[in-house]
Amino acid sequence: MSLINLTIDGVQVQAVPGTSVLEAAGQAGIKIPTLCYLKEINEIGSCRICLVEVEGARTLQASCVTPVTEGMVVRTNTPEVRQARKLNLELIMSNHPQECLICPRSTNCELQQLAAELGISELRFTGAMSPYEPDFSSPSLVRDPRKCILCRRCVSVCENVQQVSAIAPQERGFDTVVAPAFLEPLGNAACVNCGQCALVCPTAAIHEKDQTGEVWAALADPEKHVVVQTAPAVRVS
Ligand code: FES
Repeated sequence: MSLINLTIDGVQVQAVPGTSVLEAAGQAGIKIPTLCYLKEINEIGSCRICLVEVEGARTLQASCVTPVTEGMVVRTNTPEVRQARKLNLELIMSNHPQECLICPRSTNCELQQLAAELGISELRFTGAMSPYEPDFSSPSLVRDPRKCILCRRCVSVCENVQQVSAIAPQERGFDTVVAPAFLEPLGNAACVNCGQCALVCPTAAIHEKDQTGEVWAALADPEKHVVVQTAPAVRVS
């Protein structure tokens, strides 16, 4: 098989046809930040954090879904690339609850880590918040759509690895939510409680139900805590 020759950040790289720019860069020791990407499971180019500059292209390209081509010249760390990644992350965070201090995934959250990496110390944008309440109906998992960034890693792993498809994107536009069909609570779905979704979730949008989660819920809203523990997820507006 003949290999594709390209240049990434001035480094001559050879890659197998069909390899993404992200993978080729990784093989050459060049790290490109990602958020929605899960190798061979979720390669959908939705978060736009992995943007790179490709010579000759009119816009920045998502490296996780851009295949290498012969003679390609890629730059992964220009001021424009860094600025675009940072802006995209700021927009993703614009409707994210500011609960890091009491969040069960704090210090183990990809969003938090990436914000630090990209130099985001304060939020410039504040958007409308998710209209969905946390779902405590599962015996083992908490589903918190307010913290979901719609990367769909959980959906892909549930469908392609576990082959259960207990959750999928529902509704449209800003109201899109990853949930069981008909917005049923997770406790009523065909979920087998394998925890794969929680494992790949980059935030606390799906996390294990443990003592920390219980404490977090009580701190977040002591009055609602009792109600949402027993009631199905409801849409607030
Ligand atoms: Fe490439 Fe999300 S990692 S678009």
